[in-house]
Amino acid sequence: MTISYWNGRYLPLDEVHVSPLDRGFLFADGLYEVTAAYNGRLFEPEAHIARLQRGLSELRIDCTLSAGDWLAIMERLATESGITGDLTVYLQVTRGAAANRGHAFPAGVTPSVFGMASPLKRPPAAWRDQGVAAITIPDIRWGRCDLKTVALLGSVLAQQAATDAGVVDALQLRDGLVTEGAATNVFVVKDGAIATPLNDNRILQGITRTVILRLAAEAGLQLVERDIPAAELDSADEIWIASTTKEITPVTSLNGKPVGSGAPGMVWRRLFALFAERLGR
Ligand code: PDD
Repeated sequence: MTISYWNGRYLPLDEVHVSPLDRGFLFADGLYEVTAAYNGRLFEPEAHIARLQRGLSELRIDCTLSAGDWLAIMERLATESGITGDLTVYLQVTRGAAANRGHAFPAGVTPSVFGMASPLKRPPAAWRDQGVAAITIPDIRWGRCDLKTVALLGSVLAQQAATDAGVVDALQLRDGLVTEGAATNVFVVKDGAIATPLNDNRILQGITRTVILRLAAEAGLQLVERDIPAAELDSADEIWIASTTKEITPVTSLNGKPVGSGAPGMVWRRLFALFAERLGR
């Protein structure tokens, strides 16, 4: 049984018991992070911790753990997990368990902090060789998609829509604009220029997305953050989805039609090579 972290203690996962009054359970009143580790090294842990701390502050969840404490928890979970290959560290913080159910923040409640490590299955080679298929769906999520909350029903339904359609992802559209995949950020390429939706309340500021922005700038590739009308998906040369677990995956078929040439594009090829180098792959 893999080791986990629960409110200051390290113990086997099956020994963690959560109160039904925990506000994560009752209200999805909490946040989470998923960080990958390759060759025993966490990938961009500081960025994941910074995003978590921003979310905690936005939601006024009073968690006393410092950035150093978070890093120590992640490193211990990664090293003591007994997992030999690549892995992910999952962290979750909820507002805690109050004596009674009530919507407003309860007084004097200590946040619940949970962590675990799991084996990371990297995207299959076929995704890089041929790309994947996706569909578009309406974005029915709330107005604070910048917060990585455990209220994931919108993402669950989006992923299930993709699964039901026999494709890998569902690209979400809000007010005629592209927002995100089910749990991925989206990039489009036209005539060599890369674009990705603006970093605002409509999307999660993905850590993979941030790395892509950095790599593109370093390589002198043109990348703009801007609104992307849904129609641009139909005329794009390339579409990519990006996340910690999907890395950067080319979408080569959308709503049953080929994207560009129908094969992974040249810009993706260049950027993915730089990304794989960062992963140590
Ligand atoms: N999800 N957008 C959404 C809605 C997401 O849920 C995620 C990641 C991303 C990409 O973020 P990052 O590059 O930091 O992984 C974008 C994680 C992997 C999950 O829910 O499992």
